[in-house]
This record gives sequence, structure tokens and C-alpha cells, in this order.
Amino acid sequence: MMHTMWLTLMVLGGLAFPFMRTTQQEVDIHAPYVTTPLPVVDAMLKLAGTKKGDVVYDLGCGDGRIVIAAAKQYGARGVGVDINTDLIQEARANAKREGVESLVRFTVQNVFEMDFRDATVVTLYLLPDMHRKLSPRLQQDLRPGTRIVTHTFDLGDWKPHRTQNINGEQIFFWRVDKKA
Ligand SMILES: C[S@@+](CC[C@H](N)C(=O)[O-])C[C@H]1O[C@@H](n2cnc3c(N)ncnc32)[C@H](O)[C@@H]1O
Repeated sequence: MMHTMWLTLMVLGGLAFPFMRTTQQEVDIHAPYVTTPLPVVDAMLKLAGTKKGDVVYDLGCGDGRIVIAAAKQYGARGVGVDINTDLIQEARANAKREGVESLVRFTVQNVFEMDFRDATVVTLYLLPDMHRKLSPRLQQDLRPGTRIVTHTFDLGDWKPHRTQNINGEQIFFWRVDKKA
């Protein structure tokens, strides 16, 4: 709950005080580091229908908890990317501690400059502008059947196929359609 409140306050702060708003370039790389609580991580992976054989990408992975949980609980492979080098080092150390090093990969990357086409599950917890900006690429680049789950913020105009509330935190689900 605190996590969501913190991010929401930042977003609303920007709306209420426009002079505090960041430039588009800053928005692209400045989603703050706020972790998804573990019960919400579990619910996100469940909502995505995660299974062995999946390739789970967390765009802006922080300490790696989502892909590590997917590997530990489901035997899924995972890729976590984050702009913050320290967090990627932490994620690698966490994966080693949890014994899932062989299933997961963590790299320092900007989510707007990466290739996520081989994902079968994508998770996101960034900022509303970032989600909106990524949405067309997710719809275009991901293969039909790929599942997307976001935490707190949706994907703008793309209506979610399902939503769920976990202890006051909202999560959203989409399945990528066949291309027209
Ligand atoms: C709200 S945290 C979510 C962390 C993790 N996914 C979770 O749910 O616990 C957002 C993360 O995205 C990273 N981030 C922000 N902008 C980014 C960008 N442009 N490219 C890659 N990572 C980014 C931050 O460093 C931060 O770790």
C-alpha cells in the first residue's frame, strides 16, 4: 500500500505543480525505485498464468524479485533490465542467493532501447507516461499470446482484459492479440 501511495504522490505532485514536471527525456529514465510487495509479485505471476517454459521479462526490474520469483516458483526463465547498475548487481546477487542463477539474466539497459520480442510474459511497474509510451511497442513487437501484467499503472488507451486488487494495490492483465 505504501509503495503505491508513494508513487501516486509523485505522479499527482507533477500534475498539481506543473512547474515540477520532468521533461520527456527525464520521464524516460526516471521512474523511481519502489519495490512490488511479494504478495503482489505472486499475484502478478499467477494472473499472467506463469508456467515452466515461459520467458518472463521485467522492464525496470529493481532487485530482480519478479523474475527470481518466476524462476523459483514456476521454473520459468527470466530477463530483468534496469537503468540502475547498482540494482542490477543486487539482482544478480539475489538470484545467486536464491539458487536460480542459471534461469535468469539481468542487464543494465534502458527499457526504450531494448528488444523484448522473445518474452512470453512481460511485467511492468514504471510511471504512467512510461507505460503509455511503451504500450504501442508491446502490442506491435510481442508475439500473439504473450501476457502482460502491470502494477499500479495501466497501459493508457489499451483496455486491460482483467484487473485485480491485492491488499489495496491494483494489477492489470492483457494478452497480446493476433496481428491484424
Ligand atoms: C517502481 S521500480 C519497480 C521495480 C521492480 N520491477 C518491482 O516491481 O519491484 C521501477 C524500476 O525501473 C527502473 N527504471 C526506471 N526507468 C528506467 C528505464 N528507462 N529503463 C530501465 N529501467 C528503468 C528503476 O531503476 C527502478 O528500479
